Amino acid sequence: MHSSRLSEVNARDEREKDYFDEMAKKLEAEDIIDPELYTKYNVKKGLRNANGTGVLAGLTRIGNVHGYEKGPAGEKLPVEGQLYYRGYEIQDLVSHYIKEERFGFEEITYLLLFGELPTEDQLTEFNGKIAERRNLPEGFARNMIMTQPSHSIMNKIMRSVLALYSYDDDPDNISPANVLSQEMNLIGYFPAIIAYCYQAKSLFFDNQSMHLHPPIPELSTAENILRMLRPTGEFDPFEARVLDLALILQAEHGGGNNSAFATYLLSSSATDTYSVIASAVGALKGPRHGGANIAVIKMIEDLKANVKDITNKKEVDQYLVKVLNKEANDGTGLIYGIGHAVYTLSDPRAEILKGMAQELAHKKGMDDDFALCEQIADRGPELFTQVTGIEKPMCANVDLYSGLVYEALDIPKDMSTPLFATARLSGWCAHRLEEIITGKKLIRPSYKGVQDPRPYVALSDRKETARPTSVVKATTAPPAPIMKK
Ligand SMILES: CC(C)(COP(=O)(O)OP(=O)(O)OC[C@H]1O[C@@H](n2cnc3c(N)ncnc32)[C@H](O)[C@@H]1OP(=O)(O)O)[C@@H](O)C(=O)NCCC(=O)NCCS
Repeated sequence: MHSSRLSEVNARDEREKDYFDEMAKKLEAEDIIDPELYTKYNVKKGLRNANGTGVLAGLTRIGNVHGYEKGPAGEKLPVEGQLYYRGYEIQDLVSHYIKEERFGFEEITYLLLFGELPTEDQLTEFNGKIAERRNLPEGFARNMIMTQPSHSIMNKIMRSVLALYSYDDDPDNISPANVLSQEMNLIGYFPAIIAYCYQAKSLFFDNQSMHLHPPIPELSTAENILRMLRPTGEFDPFEARVLDLALILQAEHGGGNNSAFATYLLSSSATDTYSVIASAVGALKGPRHGGANIAVIKMIEDLKANVKDITNKKEVDQYLVKVLNKEANDGTGLIYGIGHAVYTLSDPRAEILKGMAQELAHKKGMDDDFALCEQIADRGPELFTQVTGIEKPMCANVDLYSGLVYEALDIPKDMSTPLFATARLSGWCAHRLEEIITGKKLIRPSYKGVQDPRPYVALSDRKETARPTSVVKATTAPPAPIMKK
């Protein structure tokens, strides 16, 4: 671009920035609602009860998350965490896949969608249906993914899901059978979608070589993902089984988590499958929800950059104390990978993944990295109490080990949330069908209007009102914590 034209654009950008900064400051003063009004009108902010638990908003048979019991005074009593998929305990399910050394993610998808574990014949038939859907529609990768890449893989996944609407002859038909067939298409397509969105980003935004391998229909979801992400397309069976396990553990987490609730919310308006799933991906992308898994990876990178010897427990402790004192990492005071909104004494997903992560780390010569995760898990809660004085039952969560697993599998860190989306797609699809079949009521809570009525002022009579920013700071609520998944 010509240099005088460039400086004109830069000057305009600066003016635009000043304008939006100023308007945002005014809005930050304008949009404040007195916290006392929430108490006065008994508003459950964030749909949470006073003790942080979620407001009961629905019933589901798909998944159940159990992390505490209610005491006589309604207080939270910590218990070991339990997670159920369609009534089956997660440990029970995965112990069979581990023992039998076979892939389980497709079986779990069948279970979540149809409510029963498949027989061998049913599973073979179901796998065949997924296999028929592994290849994206003709021209889709070229026209929809490669020509319009995004630096955010999650954003590109959302747009790919929305674009599939145009490839569907009957996209707005929400009969359960039609929705099921649309969902099966998405489940089949997703490994290629996430891999190609990543490859496009690598080339166009990171200046890296792009490697496009076609999916192999007979391979499992985990195998296809590794094949399409890796430049060589090669992987060993154990690596694929660890990824399969990580997908199983993230496939479902009840109806109240933010993206599952988005699935119910949008489905209740009777909108199409593509709009619903794109919205669920959008909800998961947020750093207070699925996007949090990148935060663990970044914290461990920061720790390695700032701690000379990661096997030195004292040095690691000192780093964690700095994190808690907001003097290290991102300054939030949070040790990522620790704590959960529902689980208290243990997160069953973390307990299960830990075993496989240890074996994988050993095979990859990453024993020190595994030991570091263990130290964070052991010391994090204790140091939290020492620094804050708060006694709070806290445990390592699944993200602590999923970050390590992805690193050991050479999976780029910006694929961790897309992988989560691939796993959770199975849960979203099941919740969408549940809403269509049994919900059937537009989700429509109420918001009380608390702005006093005002008379219209003629344009010529209006004066600018000054709003001191110090008042804004005093009343602005702190940022909300990262939600449970
Ligand atoms: C997941 C999480 C939001 C759940 O929190 P919660 O149990 O619902 O409770 P709260 O967020 O209300 O936490 C209560 C207090 O403990 C603090 N706390 C909770 N987890 C913490 C952690 N891992 N490190 C430091 N402080 C933590 C909170 O900041 C809060 O302090 P405040 O009252 O001064 O604001 C929280 O544990 C967290 O942010 N963990 C780190 C992020 C993470 O690993 N997320 C992935 C979850 S799978």
